Parts: sequence; structure tokens; C-alpha cells
Amino acid sequence: MRNRRIPALSASRNPLSLRDAFTNPSAFLLRLSCAAGDIGEFKAGPVHIICVNRPEWVHTILVEQASAFRKMPAVKTLRVFTGDGLLVSDGATWVKHRRLAAPAFHRQRILAYQSVAMRATQEMIAGWHDGQVIDLEHEMKRLTLTIVGRALFTRDVNEVADGLSRDVDRALDYVNGLSSRVTLPIIRSIARHDREALAAIARVDAAVRNLIRTRRAQAAPTADLLDMLLAARTEDGEALSDDEVRDEVITMFVAGHETVATVLTWLFYLVARHPEVQADLEREAREAQAVDRSPADEPFQRPYAMRVYKEAMRLYPGGFTIGRQAIQDVRLGDYVIPAGAWVMISPYSVHRNPAIFPSPERFDPERFTPENERALPRASYIPFGIGPRACIGGQFALMEGQVIVSTLAAQARLVNVTPGEVGIRPLVTLRPDRKIEMRVQKISPGRREGS
Ligand code: HEM
Repeated sequence: MRNRRIPALSASRNPLSLRDAFTNPSAFLLRLSCAAGDIGEFKAGPVHIICVNRPEWVHTILVEQASAFRKMPAVKTLRVFTGDGLLVSDGATWVKHRRLAAPAFHRQRILAYQSVAMRATQEMIAGWHDGQVIDLEHEMKRLTLTIVGRALFTRDVNEVADGLSRDVDRALDYVNGLSSRVTLPIIRSIARHDREALAAIARVDAAVRNLIRTRRAQAAPTADLLDMLLAARTEDGEALSDDEVRDEVITMFVAGHETVATVLTWLFYLVARHPEVQADLEREAREAQAVDRSPADEPFQRPYAMRVYKEAMRLYPGGFTIGRQAIQDVRLGDYVIPAGAWVMISPYSVHRNPAIFPSPERFDPERFTPENERALPRASYIPFGIGPRACIGGQFALMEGQVIVSTLAAQARLVNVTPGEVGIRPLVTLRPDRKIEMRVQKISPGRREGS
């Protein structure tokens, strides 16, 4: 079998400056992967990264040969906050935790979180007044933090969940900064300590441990995500220890809010620029309201809102990089990924393949009609990753997105008042490069069509 050299990605020939690698490694990695075509290799001193975009090879790495890779070491910086939770663990620890956490994300459980998402969205809208200008990203982050916090701790007063959320936010800002700085080994030394953030981490830790202790002492029916994690048992009767539950609770907080918030921020930005999509969303929401009995045991289904959400995730996938390190040589066609190499798969660039998504920069929810979605080649649309390490919260996120988008479309229109074009600022998630401001137009029953 032929062994071809992986095409080199040169910092001088591509719009890549090695300076970016130091100032914003996430942006650097994203630009590398966009410049890579099917596959490309970047080497500079100790930095050696292989970017893979071709869907069939993405499938090889994440699914067929998943066991030949482990998580990229940079993700381990999250440990400061999440301990050995699902996002960062590998091997036997990961297998045990994944098996035990899976039932908490079962379809039936997701139904129980629907009303949490709906109530939080309604509260957010009720807190806005007509004509108010909001910071969209800030509002979406607050909303998704509230939702995941309440889904975790439904049985506790909201103040506990909501209070914890503020500390999680503070801690996460710090960890995000850390992991974006230490993505490349060369600059690992730059990571700094931040007293306020470390104090927030300690408060979250203490509060979660306290909740776990209290719950262990109670005998109550299963009501929320925390109960599910505490009750989980393997076939051999093995359970998660208090430390392990703590790690998973914080992991859910971390993994479960900023990704969704980022996608929603971009979604409302895109919708505000596409009045025809706005009108269709409002029509669907209105028609659904007219017939909706909203039974808690039926899935919330808004097919058009779902298409809009999936298309927003195509253009702006919340988690824009999926990193792995090869633990053995792996063949991709005529190329070999050597053991030890870092591999980067970026849903952002995979989703911009013009052969699969013509005019890839165009926002077009019709790409996700059921027929069009079925026709997509495997591994060409991967907002939640694929394979054994795929997002455990994918169904939760899809439910949440539909609920938020449709509830908002029924009650308020967001009008973009941000001057100029908004670009991307890749950190751990794909944030906008500036504040996106929206003017709220409350929709009263008498002011719907085209007003
Ligand atoms: C739009 C929203 C979301 C996006 C785009 C997203 C994206 C992803 C991606 C790409 C991965 C795979 C990373 C890899 O293979 O290395 C992942 C993993 C994960 N996600 Fe999500 N996610 C979202 C929402 C959520 C939610 C709502 C939760 C929980 C409440 C969650 C919890 C997790 C966890 C725990 C993992 C690690 C799974 C494992 O390794 O076993 N995510 N997510």
C-alpha cells in the first residue's frame, strides 16, 4: 500500500500567522483546518497537528478506529473544574461514567426537562420590555445556564441552581481562557491563576458536594439529572461515588450551556437577517399554539424550528473543534497518521464542504428537510460529533433549541441593531467577535403578520 506525504500547511502560504498561534490558538487551529482541504499537516517546532475534513476519514477516526485515539491533551485543562468527568476522561473511567450517565439522557427523561426549558424561556421573555435592547449572547448564556441548572437540581429551590450558575459562568470563563491558551504545548507556561475564578470553582465544588450529601440522605423519587446520576448502577451493581457524581454534575453544567447559548446567539442573528425565515418560524409557532395541548409526556416538535436550529449549527457549530491524539498508526487512504500525532477535526470546516453543502456560507434551513438530511453523506454533518464519544446531551440540546426558538418566535421578534457585520471569535466555543444587540419587539395577538 502506498504511503503519501500528508500535504503541508504552511504558515507563510496560508492566511496563518504563527503569531496567532500564541495570541489566539483556537482561531489559529480553526484557520489551519479551514485551509486543509481533505487533510493537511502543520509542523512548527513542537507543534504537530493534522487536520482532517474529508467525511469518510472523519468517520474512520471518530467511529471505525475510535479506539486508536484518545482525547487531545489540551482538553485536560478542564480538569481544574470538571475533575474526571466525561468530557476529559479516557479508558475505563470514561466507559464506566458514560454507561452510568446515559440513562439520564434517555428520551423519556428529556421529556421531563421540556417544561423546565419552556418555563425558563417564558420567564426570560417576560423580563424584557417592548423596545428594550438586549445583549443577545449574554441573555442566551443566562437562559441556557438556568435550564441546565434546573434540569440538574429540579428538586432544589431555584435560587440554588440559579446562584450556582453565576459561579459556574465565572469559573468557566477562566477555564476557557486557560484551555485556549494551552491548546498548543509551546505556550502552556502562559496559563495563569485567577483568584476570583478559583474561589468560584471552590464554591461550586462545595455546593455540589453539599447537594449530593443531602440527596444521599433522602429517599425521594427520581426527579432530576442529579437523582439519575445518584441512582445509576451498572449490571454489576457498581455506582458512581460522590466524587464521580460531583465531576459529572459540573461537566453537565459546563458542556450543557455555552454550546447551546452560542448556537442560539448565531441562530437569532441569522434569523434577524432573513425575514422570510422569521416569518416561517412565527407561523409555525402560532399554528402550534392554536392546537397545542402541551402534554408533558409528548415530545415538543417544531419541525421548522428544528431545521433552522440544525442549519445554524451547520454554520456555527457550538463545539467547533474535536481533538484527538493517535495512540497507534492509523491509515487514511494513502496517508498514515503516526502514533502520537494530534488530529483536529473541525465541524466548522467539515460543514463548509461545497460538494455537500452548495454555497456553504448561505443560511438555508431547507438543507435540513427530512429528505435532504437523509441524503447527506455520513460524517458530513457532525455538530455533536459521532461515534462512542459523541455528545451525550445531543437530544437534550435539540429539545432545548426547539423549545427556545419556537417559544420566542410566538412571543417576541428580535431586531438586529448591531452596527456592521459580526465575525467569529473562536475560544472554546465559536463566539461572536463583538456584542450582538437586538431590539425586542413583543408580539401581541393583534400585531403579528409582517408588523
Ligand atoms: C448545541 C449544543 C451542543 C453541542 C454543539 C455539543 C457538541 C459536542 C461535541 C462536538 C462533543 C464531542 C466532543 C468529542 O468527540 O471530542 C460533545 C460531547 C459532550 N457533550 Fe455536548 N454539545 C451540546 C450540548 C450538550 C448538552 C446540552 C450537554 C449536557 C447537558 C452536553 C454534554 C456533553 C458531554 C458530557 C460530552 C462528552 C461525552 C463523552 O465524551 O462521553 N452537550 N458535545
